Amino acid sequence: MKANTYFITGGLGFIGAHFVHHLHTQDPSAKIVVIDKITYAANPMRLADLLAKGNCILEEANIANEAQMQALFTAYTPQIVINFAAESHVDNSIAGPAVFLETNVKGTFTLLEAARKLWMESPNQIKSEYQKACFYHISTDEVFGSLGEKGAFNEQSNYAPNSPYSASKAAADHWVRSYHHTYGLPTLLSYCSNNFGPFQHAEKLIPTIVRNALKGNDIPIYGNGKNIRDWLYVEDHCTAISSILARGKKGETYAIGGNNEHSNIALCDAILTLLDKIHPKGNGTSYRAQIKFVSDRPGHDYRYAIDPIKIQNELGWKPKVSFENALEITLRHYLEQYLKG
Ligand SMILES: NC(=O)c1ccc[n+]([C@@H]2O[C@H](COP(=O)([O-])OP(=O)(O)OC[C@H]3O[C@@H](n4cnc5c(N)ncnc54)[C@H](O)[C@@H]3O)[C@@H](O)[C@H]2O)c1
Repeated sequence: MKANTYFITGGLGFIGAHFVHHLHTQDPSAKIVVIDKITYAANPMRLADLLAKGNCILEEANIANEAQMQALFTAYTPQIVINFAAESHVDNSIAGPAVFLETNVKGTFTLLEAARKLWMESPNQIKSEYQKACFYHISTDEVFGSLGEKGAFNEQSNYAPNSPYSASKAAADHWVRSYHHTYGLPTLLSYCSNNFGPFQHAEKLIPTIVRNALKGNDIPIYGNGKNIRDWLYVEDHCTAISSILARGKKGETYAIGGNNEHSNIALCDAILTLLDKIHPKGNGTSYRAQIKFVSDRPGHDYRYAIDPIKIQNELGWKPKVSFENALEITLRHYLEQYLKG
């Protein structure tokens, strides 16, 4: 049987790179083509081992560039496209939203069009050689806006994006939905909560906490630190994506979460308490004394949480790594990275 060709867009990013490793381990015969614009958020070192061994191919290209996407789809004829590529940082979307529209919306549209042209004979008729084709779009729980003290988002939640980032992700989701509904394009989509793990960009919360702690700097926490996120270990996210890809129903959406809610300040406390234990400060004080509350992000959503009952019941997925273990693996990674300098 011919090996599947996968397009992994944004595969040099945090989650995409973890997924490429996961996919290669699961299916060593898969042909993996990483498509990445190599923005500031990309890090080719994340895939250095696989690239060096020829276990994946890197194509530097912009998902919003129609000519580049057409050429790549024609050259490789992928059966599976997983779209991780995005501008992903909310703060950047507040400072400069235009590129979020370009990459997250136009980029998703451009990929959908390239897939439709390659895979579909006509609306609702997939070419015989692409019967197993799939366009899997990675979305976020942020498209649903903010929760109060109670409740959790699920696949039926109303869209209510609050930041330019989440608005661009919401718009992309609607394009994906419409391509399934109108053309019968075989799609899957998942919403996940905040990911954490090794190799995240330095701008994100956990690396920021560890880096500043080690440098003896203030550790900035937005507002009063009470904003709550549902934390998902990146390796558990990868197993969820695999389950959805293998057993998910085309046209459906899946919410992925770790049932793991923590306020930003509680997460920060947990990391610094662990850091005090495994890398104590010479003067006997706690890193927690370095926490400094700073002006809140404009429009900062109060709480996100995911109800993962559908993926658990229908696909039998659940997170494998405990929060404590995942946090320690993550902390030890950044500790090693930042101590090396
Ligand atoms: N990190 C999270 O906690 C989280 C949570 C929910 C959903 N998501 C979603 O998961 C996906 C991956 O997130 P991440 O944290 O790995 O992001 P990331 O910012 O670490 O990586 C994004 C990657 O996409 C690439 N890219 C950006 N613009 C591109 C373009 N126009 N063409 C091709 N490549 C481009 C970048 O170079 C980078 O390698 C995103 O779609 C994001 O919205 C992330």
